[in-house]
Amino acid sequence: MYVKIATGGIMRLRNVKNKEDIMDASSYLIREPEKYKGCWSKFFGNNNPIYIEIGMGKGQFIINNALNNPDINYIGIEKYDSVIVKGLQKIPDSLNNLVMVRADALNIDDYFDKEIDCIYLNFSDPWPKKRHHLRRLSSSVFLKKYESIFRKNKTIEMRTDNRDLFQYSLVSFSEAGYVLEDISLDLHHDNMPSITTEYEDKFSSKEMPIYFVRCRKEWNLSKIT
Ligand SMILES: C[S@@+](CC[C@H](N)C(=O)[O-])C[C@H]1O[C@@H](n2cnc3c(N)ncnc32)[C@H](O)[C@@H]1O
Repeated sequence: MYVKIATGGIMRLRNVKNKEDIMDASSYLIREPEKYKGCWSKFFGNNNPIYIEIGMGKGQFIINNALNNPDINYIGIEKYDSVIVKGLQKIPDSLNNLVMVRADALNIDDYFDKEIDCIYLNFSDPWPKKRHHLRRLSSSVFLKKYESIFRKNKTIEMRTDNRDLFQYSLVSFSEAGYVLEDISLDLHHDNMPSITTEYEDKFSSKEMPIYFVRCRKEWNLSKIT
């Protein structure tokens, strides 16, 4: 199988052997997420905030966040089986604030309803061709879908190595009514994060700047925009 990577290139993913067995055996994989639409707090058994990472890759970021923040529930979303199994294999035993869902972000509003507090978009595919811009996870197509899954205040955090995607996303977030609360053009220089993603490690080890934005929309403003 081949997948596009953040730099616009193509990465070959080795077909993970027994991936169906790994997926079947893992209690961290939610096979039918649509069943929990509107009921994720009940699923987790508490009213803690729910944060999701869309395109979580092999899960380093979301697993470490779950380990470090037991009072936040995390859901990692990834499109490809061969990638998500790597994440499932990494989850330590007895982590009760994390699950993973194999799904395409295009269907995200089939799985959640007014229950998400924060969305992470880490090193999302840049879709560099202009005619593909609506495929970017920060495009108006996806921002409209995210509207219905947020609980109240809406927070999106993005990290990327791709300057064009970053610029595009700042405009897209602003046009959708988000306030850009925190921006860095070189995250690891400005404020080195304690938890990083796999792609972030790769790019920062090559001294490439990591672009970062946290943006937020208050729930009462959402009614207007
Ligand atoms: C470049 S990787 C970044 C992985 C991870 N977030 C990181 O920073 O290391 C992008 C990931 O997003 C996933 N992805 C791309 N489009 C997606 C979509 N529409 N829905 C869910 N996942 C998607 C890809 O399969 C890939 O694993």
